[in-house]
Amino acid sequence: MHPSSSLITARAVTRRFESAAGDFTTVLDAIDLDVIAGDYLALTGPSGSGKTTLLSCLSGLDRPSSGSVHIGGDDLSALDDRALAHVRRTTLGFVFQRTDLLDELSVIDNILLPAVRRRGRVSTETLAATAQLMDRLGIGQLGTRAPHELSGGQRQRVGICRALVNRPPILIADEPTGALHREATDDVLDVFDQLNASGMTIIVVTHDPVVARRARSRRHLVDGRMIDAVPA
Ligand SMILES: Nc1ncnc2c1ncn2[C@@H]1O[C@H](COP(=O)(O)OP(=O)(O)O)[C@@H](O)[C@H]1O
Ligand SMILES: [Mg+2]
Repeated sequence: MHPSSSLITARAVTRRFESAAGDFTTVLDAIDLDVIAGDYLALTGPSGSGKTTLLSCLSGLDRPSSGSVHIGGDDLSALDDRALAHVRRTTLGFVFQRTDLLDELSVIDNILLPAVRRRGRVSTETLAATAQLMDRLGIGQLGTRAPHELSGGQRQRVGICRALVNRPPILIADEPTGALHREATDDVLDVFDQLNASGMTIIVVTHDPVVARRARSRRHLVDGRMIDAVPA
């Protein structure tokens, strides 16, 4: 039903919200999308065009009003909440516009938190892989710092590291550079390039053309519809 190389397959995904007055707004209108393994996809579109809602539907945080989403072989609509949470935990890492860190924990403990939550402890392999990833992301020296000591760009790199600590194959980022100045944005984009080059599939929502240009492929949303051409 869906191409086997497709990691995430959305077919005719429609999302409607009902207002208090009882009328419906269509926020996503029959979206088809294939994200293949190794892709680096930028989803662009004006504010309010449905980008975050689409990510929520693709990642099982929200359920479409109609249409289907598959991740790997799994039809998300067929999964109960527990199975859905498992797919999300094992397949997806998330980065948002601002990375919330617990200030009472060191940077490294913040990064390891998803591993602790998942297994109750941190394996030696996870520790080693995390140290390596922190080095690659240029935050290898920051492990013992407190979160409030970090710059915005460093926080985002910590957020990326934390998103990847359980080694998901897909990274989903919603406006990850939206709060950063140009130099910090470039740092994050360099990290995405590196991760994608090593096989990570990345979906990034952005309204920054500089960010979108760095991706391998681009899709554009307008009023909940996917259009092909990205307006200049
Ligand atoms: N839970 C919700 N209930 C009602 N309307 C919503 C809800 N979530 C999003 N919307 C509406 O859907 C539209 C798209 O929102 P969103 O996906 O956040 O857009 P974007 O991320 O592109 O800025 C907006 O008009 C927003 O108000
Ligand atoms: Mg949004």
